[in-house]
Amino acid sequence: MTDTILQSRNLKLYYATRKGVVKAVNNVSFDLQKGESLALVGESGCGKSSLAKAIIRLLPRNIATYTGEVLLEGQDIMKLSDTQFRRQIRWKRISMVFQGAMNSLNPVLKIGYQVAEPLLIHEELDKKEAKKRAVEALRIVGIHESFVERYPFELSGGMKQRTVIAMALVTNPDILILDEPTSALDVITQANIMNLLKKLKKEMQLSYIFITHDIGLSSELADKVAVMYAGEIQEVADADTFYAKPAHPYSQKLMASVPTLRTEKKPEFIPGAPPSLVNPPSGCKFHPRCPSAFDRCSKENPPVFDLGSGHLVKCWWYAK
Ligand SMILES: Nc1ncnc2c1ncn2[C@@H]1O[C@H](COP(=O)(O)OP(=O)(O)OP(=O)(O)O)[C@@H](O)[C@H]1O
Ligand code: SF4
Ligand SMILES: [Mg+2]
Repeated sequence: MTDTILQSRNLKLYYATRKGVVKAVNNVSFDLQKGESLALVGESGCGKSSLAKAIIRLLPRNIATYTGEVLLEGQDIMKLSDTQFRRQIRWKRISMVFQGAMNSLNPVLKIGYQVAEPLLIHEELDKKEAKKRAVEALRIVGIHESFVERYPFELSGGMKQRTVIAMALVTNPDILILDEPTSALDVITQANIMNLLKKLKKEMQLSYIFITHDIGLSSELADKVAVMYAGEIQEVADADTFYAKPAHPYSQKLMASVPTLRTEKKPEFIPGAPPSLVNPPSGCKFHPRCPSAFDRCSKENPPVFDLGSGHLVKCWWYAK
């Protein structure tokens, strides 16, 4: 039996903008088991990075709403003060590789120092001990000790990505959020990083939230899949069920858009564009693009239906 490590319940993160309130994360609920990899997939702008930032509580200033529950082994970490969260949770229990992080390495600092920095700042270790742990974290991600004294410009893209993964691992977290960790890399380097992530998950018993807009790539690492659209989770299913038979019309369209070499089937495009999160469509947010939409869809927001074995779908079809 697996244990639940993280639960999100009705999590909301809205931004205040001049155009109105952007509902980037809207009533999001999901569970993450120990040692599990949850792939969070969806088109650009659907709120994936916002959900990650809401979980690790690294928020911009223009927050309009930030509510809900985030339970870490049963403890609601939303109730912690910012100081408690910083001391007990961020980096130590939940760590993150940010979208585009490999391009934000400090060009004038050696990589060994940059990997050691979270330990110097958050764990207040002395320099010698922090360096020892940084060397070990770099070794774990496949970077030899001799690179510790090098600067980011001396590394390949793949090595930079390994470095930012080492930075997230050096504090020995239980949960690692990976936001598009391979999207800026060529396919061979991408495959190497995916293999590294698989190895780390097994060896370090990590739980992952793996964020990607690439549903094909998500299948490589996912134990469970959550599909996000317009700030909401539309479907959650274990990976085998999801990739064999996605239930939500949006998930079906996403799957049909993946090119395949083995069949003559051409990839399909999803008509239309993702909606504004300031004035989203009424009812089901996918209804203007949904080939299966019927009367009720534009009028009432569907609840989540449980199809059994944790397969959750937010679609009126399953009320029939
Ligand atoms: N600080 C902010 N203020 C206002 N709106 C924001 C802010 N950050 C993000 N948004 C908006 O919130 C929505 C969700 O953005 P988010 O970055 O979470 O999406 P995403 O799914 O990660 O997209 P991508 O795949 O492109 O990374 C978008 O409409 C975005 O423009
Ligand atoms: S609720 Fe209606 S519009 Fe929304 S996905 Fe289901 S069938 Fe399509
Ligand atoms: Mg993003």
